[in-house]
Amino acid sequence: MEENHFIAKKATPIPWTTFWEAPSNIALIKYWGKTTPQIPKNSSLSFTLSSSVTQTQITYQPAGSGTFDFSFYFEGVAKPDFKPKLQTFFKRIEPYVPWIEGYELTIKSSNTFPHSSGIASSASAMAALAMCLMDLELKLFPGMETELFHQKASFLARLGSGSAARSVQGPVTLWGANKIQDHSSDLYALPFGPDLHPVFSTYQDAILLVDKGTKAVSSSQGHQLMHQHPFAPQRFLQAAENLEAIVPVMKAGDLEAFIKIVELEALSLHAMMMTSNPYFILMKPNTLAIIKRIWEFRASTSIPVCFTLDAGANVHLLYPQDYINQVNTFIREELAVFCQKGQYLLDQVGEGAKKV
Ligand code: PMV
Repeated sequence: MEENHFIAKKATPIPWTTFWEAPSNIALIKYWGKTTPQIPKNSSLSFTLSSSVTQTQITYQPAGSGTFDFSFYFEGVAKPDFKPKLQTFFKRIEPYVPWIEGYELTIKSSNTFPHSSGIASSASAMAALAMCLMDLELKLFPGMETELFHQKASFLARLGSGSAARSVQGPVTLWGANKIQDHSSDLYALPFGPDLHPVFSTYQDAILLVDKGTKAVSSSQGHQLMHQHPFAPQRFLQAAENLEAIVPVMKAGDLEAFIKIVELEALSLHAMMMTSNPYFILMKPNTLAIIKRIWEFRASTSIPVCFTLDAGANVHLLYPQDYINQVNTFIREELAVFCQKGQYLLDQVGEGAKKV
């Protein structure tokens, strides 16, 4: 689908309030490297999470033609310092939502996961914002098909933060033009579809909070460094191959093959960071200590646990729901000690954004 398919018309402003929540997601096939505006250098695939969500309420107030303004509150407190980032977002999406002219918005947002836990909140935040925008667009132009509603929400979310495109639907989504799915596009994410093996629709993700501080290098800087990275072309090919390989695995529920691809992707992402110029390391000693324990636990119990990492030190421990008791005991007894203040979050795969 082309970008111009997402261009809406102008409309007379109406007062309206809407409240949506959108989850975070964790990539299994990683997106690392992009061109403007948030066009990925390779396609990615992720688990949509369930409890780690951003809740956003927007009150739309008609404010006279030619005007557009907004105020932003995070967890009840006015945050004018968030405004520039949001202003850039609104500027970027304006051609697709021209009906937004003439409004004053009050945006109130909060996260269910602890603030500065090292969990990237931009995906859930941008997806929740996109849902609130699409909710009014649907009110102004009733009759929009559900499929288009979701695709445009994902398209708008992507313009806020690339990986946010994957937070609109669940339980597994694919973002980026690929050979596997019809209608796949770099512009928005699509759900994996009905062929997903049931084991993956209840998969567990324990987020082990190794380091809750601010990252030394942000995701945007990391993406930027892929432009002159000597291994970038090879990495994009590897990601495409891993995507092609994981799709049949996710249909068959082949956990052994799943584990091999997922851990390879996590370490390849961090290998790109360690070989960027300038190079950097986001893992911490405890990240490696946890990985070692996971490998030992898997070898000794044959329980199919594996890990993935995002752009940070935290470890996402992934496992089928059937092993919840054994794995949660393992986390409590052996892994919590490596987490900052012993903290971790137990989440699982979810269905995507919801109206609150
Ligand atoms: O969406 P961004 O710009 O925060 O980039 C996300 C990058 C990774 O989390 C490392 C990988 C991914 O696909 O989510």
